[in-house]
Formats: sequence, structure tokens, C-alpha cells
Amino acid sequence: ITIRLARVEDLQAMQNANLNNLPENYTLKYYLYHLLSWPQASFVATTTDPELVDQDDEFAVETQKQDSQYVGKGEKVVGYVLGKMNDDADSTDDTPHGHVTSLSVMRTYRRMGIADKLMRQCLYALCETFKARYVSLHVRESNRAALHLYKDTLQFEVISIEKSYYQDGEDAYYMKKNLHLDE
Ligand code: ACO
Repeated sequence: ITIRLARVEDLQAMQNANLNNLPENYTLKYYLYHLLSWPQASFVATTTDPELVDQDDEFAVETQKQDSQYVGKGEKVVGYVLGKMNDDADSTDDTPHGHVTSLSVMRTYRRMGIADKLMRQCLYALCETFKARYVSLHVRESNRAALHLYKDTLQFEVISIEKSYYQDGEDAYYMKKNLHLDE
């Protein structure tokens, strides 16, 4: 598994992964907005299946093209994190801070530490490149796996509960983690 910066060529595979893994979906334009505005803040986890790299095998090449996670040269996107800096004009907090819009890992690749790595890269970039002082996110109250990751592995804190934040009426935890610049 490789973690690298997300590129425009990955956007379709990122959107597909999001559609597979989460009920909160976004337009391709919104993904592109992230990449154009904060090109250092979004990452993908990819795998290169050696059996799929053989470009002489026409059957293999056709199989790759049909795989919605395939981004070329035998590489498949198996997870992503979409990060941004706060750009909410209504925000009352003028401290520069980042926000994780979306994170997900394809089912068969879970519990391998991929989300942890994606998040750490994203937090590092938000802090180092964009001078974010903290990073925030929303997560469903019922999302045990993600809550575990944020709270226990990454030491995010629950700041508040946002009632009926999601379209189906579920509440969200609004979470924050302070970031420290090594000055
Ligand atoms: N149950 C309990 N804890 C879990 C679980 C689980 N099923 N999965 C991950 N964790 C926690 C653990 O603390 C784990 O550490 P450990 O393995 O040392 O115990 C830690 O998270 C790190 O696990 P990773 O292997 O890095 O996590 P993974 O790559 O499996 O991805 C994720 C976790 C992103 C939540 C994945 O389950 C997923 O894609 N779920 C569906 C989409 C989703 O819920 N995304 C988050 C929405 S919130 C947002 O986008 C801001």
C-alpha cells in the first residue's frame, strides 16, 4: 500500500470509493475544488497488483479499465482522505484551521492501518503547509469504527453534538484536534 497526494486523475476513483463507503456524497466539482484550492491536503492509498500491471495482456488491461478504482499503470485507489482549510465565510473563528471533509477505505482493505496513515498525512500537511492550528471534522454518533480511530488512535476531542446534522436526522459529533508546529 502506498500513500500519496491525490491527483486530478484520482478524483473519479475517490468519488466511487466515497459512494461505496458513505451516505454523504459530493459532486465531482466539490472534489476538484479541494484539489485546486488545497492541493497538498488530500491523499489516496493505492495498491499495485503485479498481476494487473502486465500491459501486454489485453484481457488484463480490459479488466483494469472496468474496475472503478483503477487509475492507470496497474494502480488502484483503495482509500482517500479529503482535507481542506476552513473557508466558511460565516465562521466566527478566525484561527486558521483545517477540516477533514471525508475519509474512507474500501472494505477489503480495512483494519490495516490505512485510515490512520491517511489521516496523519493530512493533519501534517494542514499544519505544515497551511499553518492550521487545529483540525475539525464531523462524524456520525453511530460510527463506532471512525469514532475509535479519531478518539483513541488520533486523539481528537468531542467538542459538541450537532443535532440532526445528517440528512436522515442522525446527530454528529463535532470533533477537534490541536496541531502543533515544530518551530
Ligand atoms: N471497530 C473498532 N475500531 C476500529 C474499527 C472497527 N471496525 N476500524 C478501525 N478502528 C479504529 C481502531 O482504533 C484502529 O486501531 P487498531 O487497529 O490499532 O485497533 C484505528 O481505527 C485505525 O484503524 P485503520 O486500520 O487505520 O482504519 P481503516 O483503514 O480500517 O479505516 C474507517 C477506518 C475509515 C473508519 C473505515 O472503517 C471506513 O472506511 N468506514 C466507512 C466510511 C467511514 O465511516 N468514514 C469516516 C466517516 S467520518 C468523516 O469522513 C470525517
